[in-house]
Amino acid sequence: MDRLLKGQVAVITGAGAGIGKSTALRLAEQGAHVIASDIDRDTARRTADAIIERGGKARAVTADVGERAQVFELMDYAVSEFGALDIVVNNAAAVLSSPIIDMDEQTWQQLLRVTLSGAFYGTQAALRIMVGQRTGVIINIASAAAMAGEPGLGGYAAAKAGVVSLSKTAAVECGCHGIRINAVLPGATATAGLVAAVEASGHAQEEWTRQIPSARFGQPEEVADAVLFLASSLSNYINGTTLVIDGGVAARSSSPRFNQ
Ligand SMILES: NC(=O)c1ccc[n+]([C@@H]2O[C@H](COP(=O)([O-])OP(=O)(O)OC[C@H]3O[C@@H](n4cnc5c(N)ncnc54)[C@H](O)[C@@H]3O)[C@@H](O)[C@H]2O)c1
Repeated sequence: MDRLLKGQVAVITGAGAGIGKSTALRLAEQGAHVIASDIDRDTARRTADAIIERGGKARAVTADVGERAQVFELMDYAVSEFGALDIVVNNAAAVLSSPIIDMDEQTWQQLLRVTLSGAFYGTQAALRIMVGQRTGVIINIASAAAMAGEPGLGGYAAAKAGVVSLSKTAAVECGCHGIRINAVLPGATATAGLVAAVEASGHAQEEWTRQIPSARFGQPEEVADAVLFLASSLSNYINGTTLVIDGGVAARSSSPRFNQ
């Protein structure tokens, strides 16, 4: 069977680590030519090198998604290097935590700049190219935190809810041009950042995973598989939706209960 993304051109932001890195490797394994972009030059390079070592095609690009001009240059670079822009995964985000009542202005602005504006610029720049091509797929990595209140995540969750909203509107505006835009909402996924946060919490990992119906954290590769599905023709009629990957947390009743 042909690989799912043979010869397609994919840009992934935040591709130097975690979910972005796993996604870059997964899409490349399925035949995509990958632009691995990150604010961190070295990690972007390492992801691109890993793809090339496995026989794939990749380039590394240093870009801060909070800087509009850099994001537009990134998408243009994909076209100049590989001749098209088929898939964009807006994955990079700032993950900053603070109770709303204490949140300083710098934290709030950074959450908006990187997490919300980053996805907005990535979506806008991609659409401007894809509308001309009359084809393309955009996947915005939001968060399960966008769906409900979580102490300390007010700013982050608000930015991610914005990412969900802009994904839906982009789908409604641009579906007629042959473009699909969907949002992926991971729950707790075992990246280095999550592992550090669990350690800093003073609670054992089991105390966290006990609250998850699937009884474990997700793996970055499992989010990457969902992105692959949404990027591929297997999801050709899926547009403007949200795919939650949280081991069942959001499905749980919020009613108080006494038996568990
Ligand atoms: N890990 C989780 O539990 C979890 C849960 C829900 C949503 N998410 C979302 O998934 C995405 C990836 O998260 P992760 O856990 O893999 O993160 P991570 O910290 O492991 O990796 C994020 C990458 O983004 C890069 N980055 C940071 N700021 C950037 C910027 N301004 N411009 C470009 N690159 C930048 C970092 O250098 C890093 O390589 C994020 O959007 C995050 O909000 C993660």
